[in-house]
Amino acid sequence: MDIKLRAWRQAGPSERGRMVTYEVKDVSPDASFLEMLDVLNERLILAGDEPIAFDHDCREGICGMCGMMINGVAHGPLKATTTCQLHMRHFSDGETIDVEPWRSAAFPVVRDLVVDRRAFDSIIQAGGYITAPTGAAPDAHATPVPKADADAAFEAATCIGCGACVAACPNGSAMLFTAAKVGHLGLLPQGQPERDTRVLNMVAAHDAAGFGGCTNTGECTSVCPKGIPLTLIGRLNSDYRKAASGRRG
Ligand code: SF4
Ligand code: FES
Repeated sequence: MDIKLRAWRQAGPSERGRMVTYEVKDVSPDASFLEMLDVLNERLILAGDEPIAFDHDCREGICGMCGMMINGVAHGPLKATTTCQLHMRHFSDGETIDVEPWRSAAFPVVRDLVVDRRAFDSIIQAGGYITAPTGAAPDAHATPVPKADADAAFEAATCIGCGACVAACPNGSAMLFTAAKVGHLGLLPQGQPERDTRVLNMVAAHDAAGFGGCTNTGECTSVCPKGIPLTLIGRLNSDYRKAASGRRG
């Protein structure tokens, strides 16, 4: 395949960025999007140019590092798929493809396609933990958890912290991410001791980090590579109201 890649180039956080066009020839349809960038970067390096900076780690859809806007869509055109799991066969020969970093005030651009997602860390640090002694695996099996709660907690736990929900949201809200983390722990018996303080502190950290408020547009869940559902935001809101008013139970 031959493609025309229009990539955002920005030398640093305070530098002015711009789209730069590259002709990328002889790309295998079976290459992943990141492998296509690898091929381009090798050619740029051999030509004495700066490679395009982008984040990645696992390349198997589990670490959440590889997010970028592809043709204006977080993680690109394929539903429930991270950028690293997206393959070039989903594009057309001769296509022009735009690639940009996440656009959000809370995720400042570091360089090219790399953004600073430490704002997510501040939300996790505010409440993404439990203090209950959980023992070893046999002890965990001895704690009964209703199947529906276990399944819902597992679904919430599949959030990989990629930030696509924030990039897609017109408000720059991270409420889907926060709701996944609050829901993951709050659905399990071991997560009950901090249930109220967790939701209050994580939402406060969310707001302090500069993320916008949720207005239920649903863009977040439509681009989420793990299919985290909007119902978790409803659950967070319910938990928040009870915690703030002291009405739990
Ligand atoms: S909720 Fe989905 S889109 Fe948002 S950080 Fe988690 S996995 Fe990524
Ligand atoms: S590189 Fe880990 S999810 Fe894409």
